[in-house]
Amino acid sequence: ETIEWDAEDAGKSGYDHYMLKEIHEQPSGIRECLRGRLSELTGRVTLDLLEGTDWDEPVTLVACGTSYHAALFGAALLRRWGINAQAILASQFHADQLPLTSSSLVLGVTQSGETADTLRALREAQRAGATTLALTNVVGSSAARECDHVCYIRAGPEISVAATKSFASQQVALTMVAALLSDHRSRELIESLRSIPDAIQQVLDTTQARTVAETYRDAESYFFIGRDLHYPVALEGALKMKEITYKHAEGFAAGELKHGPLALVGEQTPVFALVTGEGRAANKTIGNIKEVEARGVPIVAITDGRADVERYADHVLSVPDLEPIASSVVANVQLQLVAYWVANELGRSIDKPRHLAKSVTVE
Ligand code: G6P
Repeated sequence: ETIEWDAEDAGKSGYDHYMLKEIHEQPSGIRECLRGRLSELTGRVTLDLLEGTDWDEPVTLVACGTSYHAALFGAALLRRWGINAQAILASQFHADQLPLTSSSLVLGVTQSGETADTLRALREAQRAGATTLALTNVVGSSAARECDHVCYIRAGPEISVAATKSFASQQVALTMVAALLSDHRSRELIESLRSIPDAIQQVLDTTQARTVAETYRDAESYFFIGRDLHYPVALEGALKMKEITYKHAEGFAAGELKHGPLALVGEQTPVFALVTGEGRAANKTIGNIKEVEARGVPIVAITDGRADVERYADHVLSVPDLEPIASSVVANVQLQLVAYWVANELGRSIDKPRHLAKSVTVE
């Protein structure tokens, strides 16, 4: 008896798609990203980066697609820790329209290190005299070679066109870079980063996302809402859904729903609400959930067990109770799985969606 196989299937290690395999590689990818870069003793990130470099605020992050969502996450953390920072879509970045100086720092976030828009933005920044830092997955990529500094995210090769594990590793690496740049020291943060792989594994071990996908595979549109650090995750959840299911999906800042998008919601448009923790932000998002729930809209809550969230939700996608940074990384995994299982239900070409390329080398 012979078994039919080809190199492509062999690479999938028993998974039906590279995307699912890569989703499952996130715990090990994140451990690799953190390895040797944290000190529990001092609560400091020991990333060996930018030493002796004279850089100043504001910090500008440039990126495209999924990497842009990671950049939004990184910029939010930098601001949280007192550094003036902004994320700009690489295709919208024009060095001559920014107050860049010879001490400005521009960070290019790019999995492949080959995206034309991002490389162009970084080159412009360099011409303006700025210091550039590439946050990339690919050793020896153009971004890694051309930038003044490089931080590898160490996610391992990503074959699926839709980025998954690289996003999680970008979030973790950007958290470390933000802590380094702002000299943020906290043992809690380090413990929290260390807790992410096991927390992701807990999510991977449930079948909740698959059930939700089966329930809503025929929905008209999918909406995703989140505030603060969950906002980039809401955008990423919607992008994943669009890319691989070919269905309409949008992510919104939870507070913006009432300023327009609320006109779109109905029984055929499930709203995925990211709401974790006990703070004021969570309470406000619960208010936003109530606004849609009152209109008969199905609610899928990505949450860490709050009874007042679960009361309004038709379905719950659980995440362990974690601090906000870890919580956002882990919550995103539930959304990756929902997109994957909807696409699988619909029989889409998951690893190679129509019209899309893994790295886009034209502007
Ligand atoms: C392409 C891919 C996206 C990716 C984007 C940026 O559009 O399809 O998945 O997020 O490029 O890629 P990069 O390699 O720069 O992170």
